[in-house]
Amino acid sequence: MAEEYIQLTINSTPISVPAGTTILDAAKDADIDIPVLCYFAHTTANGLCRLCVVEIEGSRMLQAACVAEAQDGAVVHTRSPNVERARRTILEMLVSTVDISESPELQELVVEYECFPERFEGGKKRQPAIIDDNPVYVRDYSQCVMCWRCVQVCADDAQFTYALNFSGRGFDTQIATFFDKPLTETTCVFCGNCIGVCPTGALKAKREHLLEQGVPPEKIMEFTRLKSKRKQSRAEDAL
Ligand code: SF4
Ligand code: FES
Repeated sequence: MAEEYIQLTINSTPISVPAGTTILDAAKDADIDIPVLCYFAHTTANGLCRLCVVEIEGSRMLQAACVAEAQDGAVVHTRSPNVERARRTILEMLVSTVDISESPELQELVVEYECFPERFEGGKKRQPAIIDDNPVYVRDYSQCVMCWRCVQVCADDAQFTYALNFSGRGFDTQIATFFDKPLTETTCVFCGNCIGVCPTGALKAKREHLLEQGVPPEKIMEFTRLKSKRKQSRAEDAL
């Protein structure tokens, strides 16, 4: 059966795409850039961060372009004043709660959208301690933007391991293992997929983390090899 095509306009550019295409993909076809944060091409899109919102004429609410399907006849604006204000506010709130010092793309967006990070100064910041409980990677959730990519890639989108999920509620929500167990006591197989999809420095290979701490390479090799816990703790004690 022939594929059905729809016509829409994005920023005055007429576009024709197969029915079912998201606004984000339709915009990409026309070389129109829409910023994303939680969206990743290889994980399920859930529309969590709202950084990709766009304005559709006749629609009361801004729509998340990564999950909203393009509609026939739609007139879409990706940089209207409403869109810019929404993105600026989201970024300002992110900066007020999360450490984005290792997220250059987010830093660029903060500049591009002329954010005023001091706007929410004095607000509560997420500052949990770094979790270093295995030889493969460290978790610094003060840099976590709750995009959920790591949870999805650990679950049905790739690995089917289910070692990570949400815990807590409201402001205290964070990514965690079941009952906050060390990763070595979970179903984690240390595939590294979660590190690969993390858009910030929240998940980092332990070797990279130790290099940044100034630990000599031979010492790093010694205690980042997967081995018995007893041998590992002896190597770490010798540091
Ligand atoms: S740890 Fe990284 S991938 Fe996981 S939710 Fe946080 S920012 Fe996203
Ligand atoms: S990128 Fe679309 S909601 Fe996060």
